[in-house]
Amino acid sequence: MIQPHGGKLVNLMVDGAEREKLMQEAESLQGVVMDEYNIADLEMLSSGALSPLTGFMNLKDYGNVIDNVRLGNGTVWPLPIVLAVGDEIASKISVESKIALKDENQNILAILNVEEKFERDKEREKIIIFKGDENHPGVIAVNQGGNVCLAGNIQMLNKIQHDDFHEYRMDPSETRAHFEKMGWNRIVAFQTRNPIHRAHEYLTKSALNIVDGLLIHPLMGKTKEGDIPGDVRMKCYTTLIDNYYPNNRVLLSIFPAWMRYAGPREAIFHALVRKNYGCTHFIVGRDHAGVGDYYGTFDAQKIFDEFDIPNEIGIEPLMFEHCMWSKKAGEMVSLKTCPDPDDKSDFVFLSGTKVREMLQNGEVPPPEFSRPEVAEVLISSMKK
Ligand code: ADX
Repeated sequence: MIQPHGGKLVNLMVDGAEREKLMQEAESLQGVVMDEYNIADLEMLSSGALSPLTGFMNLKDYGNVIDNVRLGNGTVWPLPIVLAVGDEIASKISVESKIALKDENQNILAILNVEEKFERDKEREKIIIFKGDENHPGVIAVNQGGNVCLAGNIQMLNKIQHDDFHEYRMDPSETRAHFEKMGWNRIVAFQTRNPIHRAHEYLTKSALNIVDGLLIHPLMGKTKEGDIPGDVRMKCYTTLIDNYYPNNRVLLSIFPAWMRYAGPREAIFHALVRKNYGCTHFIVGRDHAGVGDYYGTFDAQKIFDEFDIPNEIGIEPLMFEHCMWSKKAGEMVSLKTCPDPDDKSDFVFLSGTKVREMLQNGEVPPPEFSRPEVAEVLISSMKK
């Protein structure tokens, strides 16, 4: 089984008598209510999905991540994982104290051992990671967060509860156990925040040809307005897998992260985290984790060249050219495999906006673009 990032799968859950003791202690601690973004990060920290991180980042890690795509100790890491609170709350919390991290209903989730407090450099984050445009959804998320980061290790006391898709929520230790049970040694992960259309299906099946198993790992944390809601997407995924994929070679499981739309850096993040889930290969197609025109179409592939992939990344990126249906070939192709990449009239290509328009009008997009069963799920969700 592939080694987690940093060598060891982190597990921050505390149980038994120790948990009882800490729960009692937490009752009397200063509490901080976490937002949707923080909770998703906390969930992933606690399960080891963000190994080797054991808590929210300190200034050394944070600064090095922004400037050099590495933690303070040199381990590759592309995105800040911080708990940023407002000035007023921050003023009540001192370094070397403990605080109770809570959900919006005041339920205790974890204890944070506050080892450091520092000013978040929002401008640097916005410019370096998100191109600095105030309309970029990543910038909007940074703006919504507080100015002061509370850093330190976490003791997780209660698992994050979800009221949906229980059977699809698997921690890294569980996906790893599944791969082992299935006897899969080479597993490719597919990150997605969209319904799976024919191009995605082609990517995943092409990749599956050279490995043992496929992890379809849709991101289910917060996405931007206009993206298709998670419950509708789950229906699309299960419909598609039931009809068109070999059941014994595919695992559908939820990726609880929120979407940063950080293009190349998020591609590295998505890959490293899937290594923690036990995957050996990771699909990076066109404009991975992109939004608008902020990143070049293949920037998310090029960034991997900046690293020693086997030693520093450890999971193998499988890069794909733009894929679509070729009328001449009568099949799905990529710009690498089609008869003539310059003949645009050969391709069935629909923009996201066009597809949305069709679905909203109850029109089924051509089967070369989307499987009719998936289109039906989307149309009926839009009617509601
Ligand atoms: S993402 O934000 O999660 O990247 P999406 O769900 O659309 O968005 O894409 C999932 C993966 O499929 C990404 O690796 C993306 O680059 C790739 N991809 C999507 N559409 C295509 C396409 N037509 N051709 C090649 N790769 C694609």
